[in-house]
Amino acid sequence: MENKVLYSAVQPSGNLTIGNYAGAIRNWVRMQSEFDCFFAIADMHAITVRQEPALLRRRTAELAALYLACGIDPERCTLYVQSQVSAHAELAWALNCITYVGEMERMTQFKDKSRKHADNINMGLMDYPVLMAADILLYQPHYVPVGADQKQHVEITRDIAIRFNNRYGETFRVPEPYIMKEGASIKSLQEPAKKMSKSDENANASVYLTDDKDTIIRKFKRAVTDSDNEIRVSPEKAGISNLLNIYASFAGCSLAEAENTFRGKGYGDFKLAVGETVADALAPVQEEQRRLLSDKEYLNSVLQAGAERAFKASRKTLSKVYRKIGFYRGE
Ligand code: TRP
Repeated sequence: MENKVLYSAVQPSGNLTIGNYAGAIRNWVRMQSEFDCFFAIADMHAITVRQEPALLRRRTAELAALYLACGIDPERCTLYVQSQVSAHAELAWALNCITYVGEMERMTQFKDKSRKHADNINMGLMDYPVLMAADILLYQPHYVPVGADQKQHVEITRDIAIRFNNRYGETFRVPEPYIMKEGASIKSLQEPAKKMSKSDENANASVYLTDDKDTIIRKFKRAVTDSDNEIRVSPEKAGISNLLNIYASFAGCSLAEAENTFRGKGYGDFKLAVGETVADALAPVQEEQRRLLSDKEYLNSVLQAGAERAFKASRKTLSKVYRKIGFYRGE
């Protein structure tokens, strides 16, 4: 029997954080043995907010190298850059014509980003979920692993797929969101009520995958905690709970084991231990990423092979769509 298909993507904007690593990339590595995986670097989504071209290019390469360094196997998965496969933009157009402006205006992320980028509320920002629907539906996946913040976009993808299927006949598989729990809940070190974000303005709030050991330890030392002295998970202790969660995620243990490890210890020692654990876990990945970035020939060949595979898979769906909507292809 064929494996089920899994599709996901990450934007090459902002520096990736340990939240992205623990929540997304590391899970993908685990999933590649079980599913036929398509992993994209969503550079077309990235330009919905202003990007510095040279930086966008560099971050795309860095992200590809990071995937590989984390253990994504290009023989088993299709790893590619979204803009290298033209079917994404093409399907997005067709889907635009069955998606309502009102639906897009109601999207939580659109509303948030419109507030944040009030001087650049462009059509792409509003259309972002439709492009994401196109990404996904082209590959007929069963599952779409995403963080909780992207769940609404997978839901609208399902609505659009169902609508298209109803109007034109069975065309798309309706995918299931697969919300990644572990690690997805890593919070800001400065405001532990908020998710750790790659676009946080406060650099101390997020630990980036590119941070060196000293920087990582410094950020953990400055992490917000509370005024009592107990190291345990509790809704009233958001900062400490977050640090315990990060430790468990990087030491590969349960939250209860993490609590046991630090019972009776002081906050200072605890923070140092969390920082060291994270830094030591990241070191081999960072080194392999550097090695890959210095071998562009290999990196480019992997991405080209990925784009070719993605091209073939996506063409199949796009041709079907074009036929169904009545685009003339010779009679
Ligand atoms: N919007 C997603 C994010 O910012 C990235 C993304 C683009 C994506 N296309 C996708 C995720 C398709 C899953 C499936 O996290």
